[in-house]
Amino acid sequence: MFKIVEKKTLAPQIYLMKVEAPRVAKAAKPGQFIIVRMDEKGERIPLTICDYDVQAGTVTIVFQTVGCSTRRMANFEVGDCFQDFVGPLGQASEFVHEDMDELKKKKIIFIAGGVGSAPVYPQAKWLHEHGVEADVIIGSKSKDYMILEDEMKEVANVYPATDDGSYGYKGLVTNLLKDLVENQGKKYDVVVAIGPMIMMKFVCKLTEELGIKTIVSLNTIMVDGTGMCGACRVTVNGETRFACVDGPEFDGHEVDFGEAMKRQGIYKAEEAKKIAQYEENCNLGGDK
Ligand code: NAD
Ligand code: FES
Repeated sequence: MFKIVEKKTLAPQIYLMKVEAPRVAKAAKPGQFIIVRMDEKGERIPLTICDYDVQAGTVTIVFQTVGCSTRRMANFEVGDCFQDFVGPLGQASEFVHEDMDELKKKKIIFIAGGVGSAPVYPQAKWLHEHGVEADVIIGSKSKDYMILEDEMKEVANVYPATDDGSYGYKGLVTNLLKDLVENQGKKYDVVVAIGPMIMMKFVCKLTEELGIKTIVSLNTIMVDGTGMCGACRVTVNGETRFACVDGPEFDGHEVDFGEAMKRQGIYKAEEAKKIAQYEENCNLGGDK
């Protein structure tokens, strides 16, 4: 069992949990993810790792209550335990394996869209700890939804942006990136975009025009997380790849976003039905 030792609400419907999982903490690398299950009958929920502390033996996860299972998960409190906490899964970010002298010459900008700030943080932190200073655009709907800004500022140069202009740059992250490159003289060798699929698609469209290599992290539907079920399949450079074992990070200019977004929508109707059932159950006092 994996005990929750800290819980925080970061923004409406967005929660942070620090979980005791020493073996995962010891092996985790930026870019990887875990799969949690609340109990024996629970759904498997893939979540990117937000932070890990080898000394304390803890792993930090951040999640948004989008479906039935994450709504149940938000009811977990400090002292409650996950039945399963499997990981680290997937491949580490490409830069972890790069020659440090070459990496230090590169100018990297991360684009963290909404909850996508959580997987960006360990990457920016790792680079900072290895002497590489990156830029990070954090985009959110409004100021209330901006998460991990203070933590990010400790490890990177942060440019906040909000869709409604309530904080930082007013507009989409793509407009801010364009402004930095075209009007503020910024030059980047690599863009790493993590957030909603639609955001990653449009970042890639822009960076293709700007001629900047772009990495994206695909949060596809996952079931086993071990390359067996095929639920997470995506087409990259015309070939079928599994996000759970080959990814989750891929060259964004090679990803078939049209197909990936269609597949992501497959379970939406079923999920809505499950949420309605869950809420009815809660009203009757039947579920947690
Ligand atoms: P959001 O809807 O608030 O979007 C975040 C930012 O993305 C916006 O501020 C905007 O600047 C940008 N954006 C949105 N649409 C855009 C467009 N058409 N063109 C350019 N930029 C655009 O983010 P949210 O509500 O936090 O999103 C949650 C989504 O993020 C969920 O779908 C979740 O599955 C996904 N997510 C992905 C990962 C990952 O690893 N890729 C991790 C966590 C969450
Ligand atoms: Fe089953 Fe990737 S989640 S193959």
